[in-house]
Amino acid sequence: MGIRTLDGVEVTGRAVLLRADLNVPMHDGRISDLTRLEGVTPTIRELSGKGARVIVCSHFGRPEGKRAPSLSLAPVARALGEVLGRPVRFAEDCIGPVSHQAVDLVKDGDVLVLENTRFHPGEEANDPAFARELASLADIYVNDAFSVSHRAHASTEGVAHLLPAYAGRLMQRELEALDAALGHPARAVGAVVGGAKVSTKLELLGNLIRRVDLLAIAGAMANTFLAAQGISVGRSVQEADLHAAARDVLARAKAAGCEVLLPVDAVTAVELRPNPPTQTVLIQNVPEDSMILDIGPLTIDLLESHLPRLRTLVWNGPLGAFETPPFDAGTVAFARAVAAATSAGSLVSVAGGGDTDAALHRARALDRLSFVSTAGGAFLEWLEGKTLPGVAALER
Ligand code: 3PG
Repeated sequence: MGIRTLDGVEVTGRAVLLRADLNVPMHDGRISDLTRLEGVTPTIRELSGKGARVIVCSHFGRPEGKRAPSLSLAPVARALGEVLGRPVRFAEDCIGPVSHQAVDLVKDGDVLVLENTRFHPGEEANDPAFARELASLADIYVNDAFSVSHRAHASTEGVAHLLPAYAGRLMQRELEALDAALGHPARAVGAVVGGAKVSTKLELLGNLIRRVDLLAIAGAMANTFLAAQGISVGRSVQEADLHAAARDVLARAKAAGCEVLLPVDAVTAVELRPNPPTQTVLIQNVPEDSMILDIGPLTIDLLESHLPRLRTLVWNGPLGAFETPPFDAGTVAFARAVAAATSAGSLVSVAGGGDTDAALHRARALDRLSFVSTAGGAFLEWLEGKTLPGVAALER
């Protein structure tokens, strides 16, 4: 993989600047999902257990270079302490005298969280002076934030050139899983791409058709592909201006020898709300007044019928309007089939991006896939085949 890991790195008695992604989801002032905090704990425990002084930095939300009390990391630091089961100190700034005083109080094995890096414009601008300020707090830099490594910011990229820089354990695990999925995968490789918009996934589809043997397209974005082939999708969400682009993807897939699957049936309704009257129809028979809101049972069977020949599966995006019952049924059924194939040992399954982890959570399949990335944009950029600046800075 060519990434510098923590293996063999001497950290005892040294100050380690640990870039985590503490950008946790909040609802009504409470953290609604601890996954990202739990994800970084193995690295914190390892560093602290070896007697390093662990100085955690992160962004939180998008305060655009200004101090915003609602985006303070103070409550997140407290939650991190609860997850770790030990006290965690907090510094009210990530640079300048406040941060230095806080770092001076940290003892070997202690954990300190610094205030939101994005309270300073230098973070997103990747300003060398801001990166030097961050670097001045520590002897070593560790990046455990794959999910923000698509950003060339001071705390993800700039500082990595100023200190000896290594990947944390979460970053390492994420990169190993991604490499197993698309870098050096066992074949045949399948990709399932769902979600709403073709427009946001054209690059991703373009990259996948060159790398995978089978590409299944579902979710509202499949409507654009169906309509582009002259199939009436009624009042379904679709992007009429992208019909030519969709046809181009299909033609390029064919030329590359990548088989493409589109829905063959659908669950439709006249309106998107919980539990409305629905109809299950063949894809050629979508009623003019209705919307396609989920894949139907024939499509679920079709997708599942391909699983036995796949050794690797990459999945991004829900297959229907999964937040509104019963239109989660297709996603849930397929997630369970993928989980079963993974548990049986016949499939390496890697999922991530956007709503994918929420959909897998709903299907209770989150823990049964080989790896589910907590990254949104970073996972998508990686699927697009792009170099992520925060990862590139850790290369040997
Ligand atoms: C995320 O939540 O995807 C990461 O924390 C990155 O956040 P950003 O899109 O605000 O850079």
